[in-house]
Amino acid sequence: MKLFIDTANIDEIKKAHSYGVLDGVTTNPTLLSKEKNDPVSQLKKICEVVKGPVSAEVMSQHAEGMVKEAKPLAEISPNIVIKIPCTIEGLMAAKELTSLGVKTNLTLCFSSSQALLVAKAGAAFVSPFVGRLDDISTEGMDLVSDIKLIYSNYSISTEIIVASIRHPIHFLESARIGADIATVPFSVIEKLMKHPLTDIGIKRFVDDWDRLNKELNN
Ligand code: E4P
Repeated sequence: MKLFIDTANIDEIKKAHSYGVLDGVTTNPTLLSKEKNDPVSQLKKICEVVKGPVSAEVMSQHAEGMVKEAKPLAEISPNIVIKIPCTIEGLMAAKELTSLGVKTNLTLCFSSSQALLVAKAGAAFVSPFVGRLDDISTEGMDLVSDIKLIYSNYSISTEIIVASIRHPIHFLESARIGADIATVPFSVIEKLMKHPLTDIGIKRFVDDWDRLNKELNN
């Protein structure tokens, strides 16, 4: 499973990139608004660090406007992917952009029927939002399983990005289901490698080594 980072913060992206396991980035208007920078120059900075797919979202709610906004975004870098909401207008925009050779990520996906139509429109990626479904007492991961089943039934190549991930269990479940990608906030990426027994084990090895060296030097 590929690992994307879900942030527009350049320090977090650089750190996660330095771990050697980062495959891409997803941004959204909320994440970009936190950076207090011109979104285009922020996206440029991100694309200088990460060569995998970097999602940049359009704000228009009409297909024509989405396509118009997408064109300059796609020119920022060849790895920019245009993020479009899962609406009928979004479908039309995805179809048009795909025919122009621009990759799309259909976001705010909350149902399998949306995911199936998104694939039919030729989107490269679909982003089911698991955390926001959990927030309304609906199993977010069930949606991912369902999309995975439907895509397998028809050998659909649209990649599933599990989005709105809130904790390591979302990440693990995504891998069990066989999702293509998980897009994960920086704080959760760090938690993925954290284990108290690893820390305790390191401390014990260091203490024992120091004790041995002291004994040998006496
Ligand atoms: C994904 O592409 C979105 O940017 C993101 O995962 C949304 O997460 P949230 O529900 O925590 O805002």
